[in-house]
Amino acid sequence: MLRASIAAAAVGTGGLTVAGIAPLRSESTHPDQAPAHLRGAAPLPHAQVIALDIAMGEDQRGRALHAAHQVVAAVNSGKIAAWLALGASALSASADRPRHLKQMPVFGGDVLDPAQSHGDLLIQITATSADAAQEAAKQMLRKLPQWRVRWRVEGVRPENRTESGRGLARNPFHFTEGYGNPASPAEIAERATVQAGQGEPAWAVGGSYQVIRIIRLATDFWDRDTLHDQEHIIGRRRDGRWLDGTPADERAVFTSDPDGKITPLDAHVRRAAPDRRHPPPLVRRGYNYQRSPDDQGLIFSCFQRDLEKGFEAVQHRLQDEAMAKYTLTVGGGYFFVPPPGDGWLDALA
Ligand code: HEM
Repeated sequence: MLRASIAAAAVGTGGLTVAGIAPLRSESTHPDQAPAHLRGAAPLPHAQVIALDIAMGEDQRGRALHAAHQVVAAVNSGKIAAWLALGASALSASADRPRHLKQMPVFGGDVLDPAQSHGDLLIQITATSADAAQEAAKQMLRKLPQWRVRWRVEGVRPENRTESGRGLARNPFHFTEGYGNPASPAEIAERATVQAGQGEPAWAVGGSYQVIRIIRLATDFWDRDTLHDQEHIIGRRRDGRWLDGTPADERAVFTSDPDGKITPLDAHVRRAAPDRRHPPPLVRRGYNYQRSPDDQGLIFSCFQRDLEKGFEAVQHRLQDEAMAKYTLTVGGGYFFVPPPGDGWLDALA
């Protein structure tokens, strides 16, 4: 149990400084900087997404979590942004857990492979190069014998760039992604970060729910469709413009097209965000993956302060979207990125 084991680790060591582990270097030493998972308008272009399970007894959980926090905090630099996120199974039943944190449910059409789903802990390393991300992962895992890898996937954001404050990239369906995200750091933080007064434990304020979905995409099948059909399935042109020609960074008005003559009612963006005045409160920061020519897709990743109002509300609306027949979700999970610093470790003790 996390609670018991952190307490045990702290006994006789003067607080949470566990014997053999140096004092924690807090990520909160840069108060004006966004936390690692929300740093920069565009995420760093390469990622290692690693889900871990505790490899030791329950009584070692607190210690193992400590070690993970320390190793992750130490790897952050100008070229690497890394963070950890807790799975529901990382916390004891009695822990003051984030209200929505649970095992990711199976949504209609999902075929979740247990070997690619869930996990006690998620570590995500993002970096300026694939080599840097791989090397950081190797070094980190070497220092974490308390954990064993449950699943792991490497991601990339082709054509990664920032335009008008938004991070954009090209997805495996050749469409530009990112326009629906907020452009201002304040709105990113507002959508993605747990606030006081939300009914969440005090320790969780400033943290984020992270959803990962490993979505296999039928790119061959997709590539056989015409561009016209593809654009009507997404609801935007490949370059992001709306189907009526409205520029990408302006707001579409679906109310003047109630029957979906311009933008079909089952188009992805229309299902994802039907009310243009109230965009879904989430921030997407996904990556493409390719494990073999016929196993490629999206490491869909989003952050939100409220899982039900964020990811789950959108996912339910996407159930029978036109794009569904080209996608298969095979893995991922629900996680909680603790707020910067190490106060959360104390709170869970
Ligand atoms: C199956 C793989 C997916 C693909 C290929 C895909 C692709 C896209 C594209 C091309 C856009 C338009 C550009 C943009 O606004 O970023 C978009 C928008 C969006 N997608 Fe997805 N997406 C996928 C899965 C998902 C999932 C699983 C969710 C959430 C449950 C989601 C939520 C959204 C939202 C909220 C928007 C913004 C809508 C707007 O404000 O206009 N997408 N997606």
